[in-house]
Amino acid sequence: MQEEMKNKHHTSLTIIFLMVNLVCIQPMKRRDILNTLLNTTEYDPRIAPDFERNEATRVHVQLSVISIDSINEVSMDYTLNAILRQTWIDPRLNFSHLSNISMLELDHRRMSDVWLPDTFFRNEKTATLHAITVPNKLLHITNDGRVRYSIRVSLTLSCTMDLRFFPMDDQICSILAESYGYSIDNVHLMWEPKNSFIIQTTDDEYSLPQFYQHKPVETLKYSIVNPSNVEFSGLQAKLYLRRNLGYYMSQVFIPSILIVTLSWISFWIHVDAVPARVSLGVICVLTMTTQSAGVRNFLPRVSYIKAIDVWMAFGLLFVFAALLEYAYVNVQTRKHHKQVKKSEKKDKNGETNDKEICPEYFMERARRVDRISRIVFPVSYILFNIVFWSAYLSK
Ligand SMILES: *[C@@H]1O[C@H](CO)[C@@H](O)[C@H](O)[C@H]1NC(C)=O
Ligand SMILES: *[C@@H]1O[C@H](CO)[C@@H](O)[C@H](O)[C@H]1NC(C)=O
Ligand SMILES: *[C@@H]1O[C@H](CO)[C@@H](O)[C@H](O)[C@H]1NC(C)=O
Repeated sequence: MQEEMKNKHHTSLTIIFLMVNLVCIQPMKRRDILNTLLNTTEYDPRIAPDFERNEATRVHVQLSVISIDSINEVSMDYTLNAILRQTWIDPRLNFSHLSNISMLELDHRRMSDVWLPDTFFRNEKTATLHAITVPNKLLHITNDGRVRYSIRVSLTLSCTMDLRFFPMDDQICSILAESYGYSIDNVHLMWEPKNSFIIQTTDDEYSLPQFYQHKPVETLKYSIVNPSNVEFSGLQAKLYLRRNLGYYMSQVFIPSILIVTLSWISFWIHVDAVPARVSLGVICVLTMTTQSAGVRNFLPRVSYIKAIDVWMAFGLLFVFAALLEYAYVNVQTRKHHKQVKKSEKKDKNGETNDKEICPEYFMERARRVDRISRIVFPVSYILFNIVFWSAYLSK
């Protein structure tokens, strides 16, 4: 009797063993693995992976910048097209016991069934997630429960700029990524140890017309405490940008140097050529004013004085001084003509004018002022240039 029982027991065990073997030999389909893993009675995507444990889920972040488009001084922001990659381990999605498949790829419609971190960009003004032809998202689950999530975004990020040295300025623009709802006890953001910030380029220089990078990107970690004393984890990437002077050289500096030089031509024109010298001076002043108005158009209304303001103000001053010089010269020539007329009258009346000043005196003075100006104006403008460029370029 006992023997029979033992035998029966043995056979049933063998059957179970065979059945288990049968199941194991038939490899599980990927679809079944996914359905088993993401079965809502087992897996809740609304709960963070390490919610039940006193441990934070470490989310590794990597940013791949595709392009940095426009840096806008007026609105103090810049636009960036990037791929945000986040990697973390969700132990509930470990399927190494189910199959020897190394990785599962999810469709974007299935991604809502997986827990995702709530990363946001603190200095974002506007952002768009690209959805052509389908949302530009990727989600991979590896068999050890590692989740790789990547999205393509276009971000307009604020960047407070100090324009004191404009256009010889350097700017630091940041990207601030932070966890919005999960405190540092639940979600801990960290940069990927390797290649945390990549600037993907097709060319050697990435498409950034006005700036170049004078220092490599710096990646930092920070934590921020909100008013109710909850600490959040955040990441910062600092872009060190230096403005390309080329545009401002050709559009601002060289034209204004030419206008100032043009105003000196007046010193070589005859003192009696009133229309020529006055119109030259006035045209130079007007052009200078128009140019500085044009420069102000693409700059914000900041309260401090920018380098370009200093440049423009001195340019205007030089041009204006050249016009004033002619006013003085003109007064002298008029005095001269008056004298000449007077002496002619006296000559007619037969009087001698030995007591009077020589009529040539005022003319000589006018000519001397012109001769001195021919040297003083260029020399002082060159001196101003030396001081200006050495002060601003050596900041
Ligand atoms: C989810 O799991 C429960 C119990 O483990 C099971 O009864 C149910 O059939 C599963 N659902 C799916 C869709 O696999
Ligand atoms: C997974 O296991 C099956 C059999 O169980 C085998 O045929 C297949 O080569 C294995 N695949 C890998 C990637 O090891
Ligand atoms: C995944 O599960 C296997 C076996 O169940 C275990 O050995 C491994 O450590 C797990 N991986 C992780 C990352 O938890």
